[in-house]
Amino acid sequence: MNMAFPGVQASPNDMLDFLAGLFDRAENLSYGTGTVSMCAHMLQTADLAAADDASPKLVAAALLHDLGHFGTDFDFEFTDGSHTAMQAATDDKRHEDAGANMVRPFFGAEVAEPIRLHVPAKRYLCAIDTAYLDGLTETTRHTLGLQGGPMSADETKSFGALPFAAEAARLRRWDDLAMAADHVTTPFEDYRGLLEDLMAKCNA
Ligand SMILES: [Fe+2]
Repeated sequence: MNMAFPGVQASPNDMLDFLAGLFDRAENLSYGTGTVSMCAHMLQTADLAAADDASPKLVAAALLHDLGHFGTDFDFEFTDGSHTAMQAATDDKRHEDAGANMVRPFFGAEVAEPIRLHVPAKRYLCAIDTAYLDGLTETTRHTLGLQGGPMSADETKSFGALPFAAEAARLRRWDDLAMAADHVTTPFEDYRGLLEDLMAKCNA
């Protein structure tokens, strides 16, 4: 099948190989307080989405939601699948935007937008769901303060009206839960077919 994505030099297969390589390398990076690797965290988020009957697009968003941690300057001009932009992995320079920009050409807005919104979705959920707010860990509560605390009434209304706000809020809940040390994750390769299908549909 011949696929073309405007403005993107990488083929879908390059992209899939590239993603598989990132997940491999993410096994050596710890996530959050260090109970799981970044790789396990992303796979767990996808597993939670699948278990919650999420659509394939939302499962893909869950799987790929933290990709932006692996470098914020992807330009997609790699041609050999061996991109080396995984850098400063713990340095968060708006990883939600970086991740969304990275996947949008391949998977479309339904995958990209929940990723882009999953960070503000935390402040949104804190404003609309006191049980969610009460359930935050000490670390997440601390970062919430740095992020501006729960959304104001106006912010909540604006966020809730955005396309894919509901999907982003669901993704955020799985994201928060996806750090169980004893969870046996589905390997990335098992999600490869789902990603391939979505890319084919996005390009159709
Ligand atoms: Fe995450």
